[in-house]
Amino acid sequence: MATLSLFIVLLFLPLPYSYADPDPLQDFCVADLKSSPSVNGFPCKSALEVTSGDFFYDGLSKEGNTTNVFGVKVNAGNVLVFPGLNTLGISMNRVDLSPGGIAPPHLHPRSTESGIVVEGKLLVGFVTTGNVVYSKVLGAGEMFVIPRGLVHFQHNVGDGKALVFTAFNSQLPGSVIVPSTLFASTPPVPNDVLTKAFQVDEAVINGIKSKFGMQG
Ligand code: GLV
Ligand code: MN
Repeated sequence: MATLSLFIVLLFLPLPYSYADPDPLQDFCVADLKSSPSVNGFPCKSALEVTSGDFFYDGLSKEGNTTNVFGVKVNAGNVLVFPGLNTLGISMNRVDLSPGGIAPPHLHPRSTESGIVVEGKLLVGFVTTGNVVYSKVLGAGEMFVIPRGLVHFQHNVGDGKALVFTAFNSQLPGSVIVPSTLFASTPPVPNDVLTKAFQVDEAVINGIKSKFGMQG
């Protein structure tokens, strides 16, 4: 009976894997990105070496260069470039899109994403595990949320440039960009897998791979 009660209690306790990044155990733990021990996250810099500069980051202040095939530039403000975020479980991106530009379908394995459009007209959407798409065209000041791990996209449907800032409940959300994951990985995903998955001939797969500078 005691074991059964314990099991029921455990069943309703929030499980660690349902959290985003773990909570900090001290005021701060500025990442020592050069430290050799490998841990889950980064070891803390000595407090004696911590400066104000560790807690400020201006990498999202400048407009990104969107002259690329997707017409997008994502500038990530994560722990790798902003070590003060270490153990705090948050980070942000700046996303600039030229007219017609897209943030291609992608997902963040470690984080939910929210965002606020600052400029332009943006179609924002995500796809559920049941293949249902939820989407809306947003203007300046409007927010969205993308549940953790779901494939999502943004498309600048306005006449001018678009700017959106996104926020994550992870210091390093990770990005799986679907087209490059499937067609530009190293080593490549075998063509046999891709032809069957997409029900097309090998020439189509090779054509797509070549767009990413890959051989068949
Ligand atoms: C947009 O989807 C982003 O990941 O910043
Ligand atoms: Mn995203």
